Amino acid sequence: MISIAIDGPSGAGKSTAAKMLAARLHFHYVDTGALYRALGYVLSRAGVNLDEEAPVRAAIQPLTVRLVFNEQGQRVLVNEEDVTPFLRTAQAGENASRVSVHASVRDKLLEIQRRAAREYNVIMDGRDIGTQVLPQADLKVFITASVQERARRRYHELQENQTLSQSLEEIIADIQKRDERDRSRAIAPLRKADDATKLDTTHMNLEQVVQALCDLVAERSLNRS
Ligand code: DC
Repeated sequence: MISIAIDGPSGAGKSTAAKMLAARLHFHYVDTGALYRALGYVLSRAGVNLDEEAPVRAAIQPLTVRLVFNEQGQRVLVNEEDVTPFLRTAQAGENASRVSVHASVRDKLLEIQRRAAREYNVIMDGRDIGTQVLPQADLKVFITASVQERARRRYHELQENQTLSQSLEEIIADIQKRDERDRSRAIAPLRKADDATKLDTTHMNLEQVVQALCDLVAERSLNRS
């Protein structure tokens, strides 16, 4: 199986570009953030304190988490409940970042991600795919963009989805806080793998990002399998 690891901070444009690349290559697109969002969602709904390791560990222990793929893409099932529709809000992102610092959460989700890469050709999007989840990935790309540009994109995305409830300045502050938490956590922090190619998309449009990814794929002949 072929694995392509795409890592980088929130809002750098990883997911849209990775999804388009997956469609072109007929690979499965795996959004690992959705797994953290699913646990954050279910735990916050149950009133668990997301910042404390012990209650989080106890709450997730009996949960079964499954990734399934259908024509609409990836779904996340927690105890067989499809929680996918609840995962794209800013609050779900914040909750995901909070639960993702705990070792018990990362351990629980690690094998699910690795299994997907054993079963399918994947483009896997996350924070620690190249460093921890799939260190043997055939291609690793670290996608970044400036904080201002990422906030601007997030603002437009929320506006389009009609879920905009923050000012641009508040979004910038949120992104900075999330970056800091993702980068400074003790376990599997957001970091470019030494053998990853860095792609700064600040001044690139979506088509250019997808093209740059396609070029990297072609250089390694990963499109000929
Ligand atoms: O990519 P995203 O915005 O859906 O991710 C939400 C949060 O989940 C992110 O702030 C940190 C965490 N996450 C992680 O720790 N490791 C991953 N591989 C993916 C996401």
